Amino acid sequence: MTDSKAAFVLGTRPEIIKLAPVIKACQRRNVSTLVIHTGQHYSESLDEIFFSQLELDPPDVNLGVGSGSHGQQTSEMVLGIEEQLMDATPDVLFVQGDTNSTLAGALAACKLDNIDVAHIEAGLRSYDRNMPEERNRIIVDHAVDRLYPPTEETAALLRDEGIPGDRITVTGNTIVDAVEMYDETAASTSSTLTRLSVDKGEFDLLTAHRAENVDDRDRFANILFGVAAAARHRNNEVIYPVHPRAADRLESFDLAVPDCIRTIDPLDFFDFLRLESTASLVFTDSGGVQEETCILGTPCVTLRNGTERPETAFVGANCIVGHRPDDIVAGARRMESKSGEWEPPFGDGHAAEHILDDVGLEDQHAERRAETATKEAPREL
Ligand code: UD1
Ligand code: UDP
Repeated sequence: MTDSKAAFVLGTRPEIIKLAPVIKACQRRNVSTLVIHTGQHYSESLDEIFFSQLELDPPDVNLGVGSGSHGQQTSEMVLGIEEQLMDATPDVLFVQGDTNSTLAGALAACKLDNIDVAHIEAGLRSYDRNMPEERNRIIVDHAVDRLYPPTEETAALLRDEGIPGDRITVTGNTIVDAVEMYDETAASTSSTLTRLSVDKGEFDLLTAHRAENVDDRDRFANILFGVAAAARHRNNEVIYPVHPRAADRLESFDLAVPDCIRTIDPLDFFDFLRLESTASLVFTDSGGVQEETCILGTPCVTLRNGTERPETAFVGANCIVGHRPDDIVAGARRMESKSGEWEPPFGDGHAAEHILDDVGLEDQHAERRAETATKEAPREL
């Protein structure tokens, strides 16, 4: 028997967080892993901090691609990933989400023989083709062999696009596994509330980093103005950990951040989880943050015109408001009285195990133990 090998392509903060439970599940099953980091994210606060905090081994390979245009970034990644996969010949390659790293992993692997390509968090659609992420999702879902949508609704979207049902398995989202794994530790170890001098329930949290929001000066300014107005109305300060793309734009657009918004550096996962679970309201354009607030029971106001996570709005956890100040204020008013008592729709917290079961990565030692036991069993006379 030869041992199974699982490869992972990741490159950005959310991919590290959402693939961590799957990499760990492989280790529990004694499945050998190859982690290929594209280098799309490279700043310590978007990259290394998550490997150390989530107790992941450093990536086996870092392609060091860095920032660039979509074409440049993606093509360099494809070349590097293909070379690694041809050398290592894994049985399965996992990609997650909708970034350029996800796209490059799927493109590099889908024409190589004997590698099953599996997309975790398949089937999400915002129906906004101006988002690079939407194009990535569609291409990836139609290129891969196995699709792991988080919910029945996302699976139905894939079938509606003509993808055969036998390639699709609903598993829940691995973000539930990650939140369940780390939320208690975050609550007991993070000192972020003290360091920031904020009290539970008496501040708001903001993240805004999407290209369509922060690369447009007026739109970014409107978001800051609207969030500040909504928070002032409730006498709250807003904590805004600023993603490097947004930091870049704040500087180049010379945008003034309203007084009641406190900008800080990006946070590690435990500190961020702590703020998300204790904030009064969360304003965001992030995909992962819409999911996490829904899981943690914190009302969310989404600063986009649509979402590929409509389940969060259906259960009452999220309100989609766009970027106009009046709409942001109205959305915050609608969400401020929410109790947080909704049913999170993203699965049972064992998505990683369901994925490995489906893709056929059994515990390698169990198989070996069974083989040894069969060989050693006394023969009947
Ligand atoms: C990428 C993903 C987005 C995801 C986000 C997660 C794509 C198309 N976009 O967006 O879907 O939500 O990651 O955070 O894949 N930069 C740094 N340090 C870094 C990385 C980036 O300073 O470690 C700066 C650079 O100026 C860079 C800019 O941020 O040009 C944007 O980085 P990029 O990876 O292109 O896209 P993100 O906005 O991070
Ligand atoms: N996150 C973090 N620190 C921060 C902001 C976000 O650890 O300062 C985490 C957050 O908990 C979530 C993920 O980053 O798991 C979301 O990533 P991001 O918003 O960058 O990307 P998206 O989910 O929009 O693709």
